[in-house]
Amino acid sequence: MSAPSITDPIEVRGLRVRNRIWIAPMCQYSVMAYDGVPTAWHRVHYGALASGGTGMLVVEATAIAPEGRITRQDTGLWNDEQRDAWRPIVDFAHQAGAAIGVQLSHAGAKAGTFAGFGRDGDRRGSVPIDEGGWPTVSASDEAILGLAAPRALATSELDGIVAAFVAAAQRAVEAGFDVVEVHGAHGYLLHQFLSPLTNRRVDGYGGDLAGRSRLLLDVVRAIRAELPALPVLVRLSATDWTDGGLDEQQAAQVAAWALEAGADFVDASSGGVVLAEIPVGPGYQVHLAERIAAEGVPVSAVGLIETAEQANAVLRGGVAAVRVGRAALRDPNLPIRWAGELGVDVDWHPQQYRRAY
Ligand SMILES: Cc1cc2nc3c(=O)[nH]c(=O)nc-3n(C[C@H](O)[C@H](O)[C@H](O)COP(=O)(O)O)c2cc1C
Repeated sequence: MSAPSITDPIEVRGLRVRNRIWIAPMCQYSVMAYDGVPTAWHRVHYGALASGGTGMLVVEATAIAPEGRITRQDTGLWNDEQRDAWRPIVDFAHQAGAAIGVQLSHAGAKAGTFAGFGRDGDRRGSVPIDEGGWPTVSASDEAILGLAAPRALATSELDGIVAAFVAAAQRAVEAGFDVVEVHGAHGYLLHQFLSPLTNRRVDGYGGDLAGRSRLLLDVVRAIRAELPALPVLVRLSATDWTDGGLDEQQAAQVAAWALEAGADFVDASSGGVVLAEIPVGPGYQVHLAERIAAEGVPVSAVGLIETAEQANAVLRGGVAAVRVGRAALRDPNLPIRWAGELGVDVDWHPQQYRRAY
């Protein structure tokens, strides 16, 4: 069978997605009222991306609880006001022909930091409690990345974390989102459980890979039980790029378990729990997605995939879709442009712009 093209449609749990050029979640840190409610910026930003031809746009890491925000300027889905503010963004994406998802997130020990927009973010780290920060939680009580030390979550608190993910997923469905993505990557709470570098627990949520995966899999299973028809993506950091950390073999196993638990798709990112030497370059994470694809798990690749030819080559390696981040910030119309470069005639542009094509 020949490999699909990035311009080919794909189905995810009954959801038809018009192509395989997807927008990766990207924090905007633009909720200046600190209430988690998306703003005019989110409407314009996501509107532009949805109009640019993507098959699936997944909006930024959106907190399932106030204390799960990376910064005070994060979006949330822990209350109905937030849900209602997402609705016009979702409706607009649908009018533009894009599927739209939300990345559900709890930052754990990486919560409560200063928001920064530069390449390295803001280096001031944790916001002091008396300046509006809050105590953080994690798998263990060791500080990471120079941030304030978290409190290890008690076993009895973990059902509450799972329930908060499910409640946010429920609100996502009420807002009209087609997909939810469980954020299991980049050193945030679920990754803090997955990684042996940050999980020193001695209860059933630590120890071997099965124990460390348990919270993530509980979240996936609980969302699946509550929302049987909802397509669920899981984003993993498929390596910690550090000896003794999570590696690509373990990540492929977790991806297979996530599929069994009811996920439909995995995205292979990397890093975030410790500082590591990451060999950043074109397609530097593609091999991680290929390793997961080898388990028979539908998977997307991400990370410096910046040309149409390169993206199509990625699909030839067994990966089902590509996700783009920064290149789509530079040009929200990148999917339409890539189709043109491949000589594929598409109708993904808004009809209002027809005279331009
Ligand atoms: C501004 C910005 C914000 C990001 N925020 C998130 C996020 O909210 N959740 C997430 O999983 N990844 C986030 N990422 C990582 C991207 O989703 C993506 O994996 C990364 O940028 C690599 O892809 P690229 O080379 O195509 O940009 C962010 C990246 C950027 C540039």
